[in-house]
Amino acid sequence: MSEWRRFTDRGALDRALAQHVCARLKDDIDAVGEASLAVSGGNTPRQLFRLLSNLALDWSRVTITLVDERQVSPDSTDSNERLVRENLLQNQAGSATFIGLHSDNADALPELARRVAAIPRPFSVVILGMGADGHTASWFPCASNLHTLLDPDNPAELASSDPVTAAHQRTTLTLAAVLRSREIIVHICGEEKAAVLTEATARRYPIAALLEQDNTPVSIWWAP
Ligand code: 6PG
Repeated sequence: MSEWRRFTDRGALDRALAQHVCARLKDDIDAVGEASLAVSGGNTPRQLFRLLSNLALDWSRVTITLVDERQVSPDSTDSNERLVRENLLQNQAGSATFIGLHSDNADALPELARRVAAIPRPFSVVILGMGADGHTASWFPCASNLHTLLDPDNPAELASSDPVTAAHQRTTLTLAAVLRSREIIVHICGEEKAAVLTEATARRYPIAALLEQDNTPVSIWWAP
């Protein structure tokens, strides 16, 4: 069962979510001396990243990675790594360790997977967005390997995927990897995405795989 957290506006949502993520990272640093955070790209998280980057934390004990990445140059405006470097790895959070998922070809996947496997687990928090087609991460409805991406018993933590309905080949964490976390947050805005998420299970959207599992708690943070 996923809990909804509804806010009156996006500013209130992003301020509350930044504080919540910071507190979860601090909990793990206090408990085990380290923390890890996996974030998504897209437009929704930009302001959240900026707010989070300014919060006081022992960021040198935090490892940040991406849930997914487009196979573009890290200086491309479509690069999730660029989004994170310009908005999150700044200010207080500048001392965090970042593990990117950029690769020029699928041959780099094993090396990327080794880097991801070395990230402290379970992730303290995984932050996911969602598209209007019900995709999250790079688990797109028309991806030929969607079944594998969503197999909770898949031993692979990282995979390539072709969205078909969106630009760029992708590198993405699998559902199995995302579930190795203490908490999953779905960060969405707007009435359309609220409706899509509400219908996700009935319409068999990819994000339904998250909503139907009971391995890891999922909360939905939404504003109009
Ligand atoms: C990506 C993201 C993707 C994103 C959704 C929502 O690389 O595009 O990881 O899963 O979260 O597409 O994107 P918006 O926030 O731009 O709507």
